[in-house]
Amino acid sequence: MILQHATWADIEGYLRRSTGIVVPVGSTEQHGPDGLIGTDAICAEAIARGMPAHADILVGPTLALGAAQFNLGFPGTISLRAATLMAVVQDYVASLAAQGFRRFYFLNGHGGNIAPVQAAFHDIHAAASLRGGDASALSLRLRSWWEYPAADALRRQLYGEREGIHATPSEIAIAMAAVPGARREAAAGPGWVRVPPEELRELAGDRHVDAVRHRRRFPDGRIGSDPALARAEDGARLLAAAIEGARSDYRAFLAGD
Ligand code: NI
Repeated sequence: MILQHATWADIEGYLRRSTGIVVPVGSTEQHGPDGLIGTDAICAEAIARGMPAHADILVGPTLALGAAQFNLGFPGTISLRAATLMAVVQDYVASLAAQGFRRFYFLNGHGGNIAPVQAAFHDIHAAASLRGGDASALSLRLRSWWEYPAADALRRQLYGEREGIHATPSEIAIAMAAVPGARREAAAGPGWVRVPPEELRELAGDRHVDAVRHRRRFPDGRIGSDPALARAEDGARLLAAAIEGARSDYRAFLAGD
């Protein structure tokens, strides 16, 4: 069930069966010369909305704006400050917690969101912990789609070193599968630009500098990736693998403490 396509009575009924919700979280930022600006939100939403088939799962509104200040040198990027994203996550959770929701599963499509969303979780837990703990304590989980083992294995198998860490062929392919016909023709460019693995490790989780230096270092927006490899057929396989991984991880999350 999609929250925005439901009535309040539908949600009241759902709460008698489950207190869990899946929240897609993405970003609105450049995705290289031919990737859609909405790629991260499109991927997270497509995976989350694929989860309910044959299962009683509620999917909340997508958080389409994330922490992406480093990409503001590329037109079209919209970034929340880390503190703003934390506040949005806290209010999203608090609104639904007040109605009886207890388990919040954030399905992420953007590395830059990981630190702020985890920090928001810390503060949500701190509110209960500082009171000495109580029965209203919430369960919170953040998972990025590329962490699901089958999706991760498939992207490595398909693209190897050319996966890179931004404007990756895997995310571009998933967006192609989710939004058919939306991809532009690849811009004429220099082809794959290798970035040393040690630099990629240093940047994991989008630990980037400011927007001016970021664009200077990665002038067309790709980071070690070769998005020209992206194919919609592969995107459909990656999407299916991520949906299966998300379903199984969410089931375990609901069953957990
Ligand atoms: Ni992305």
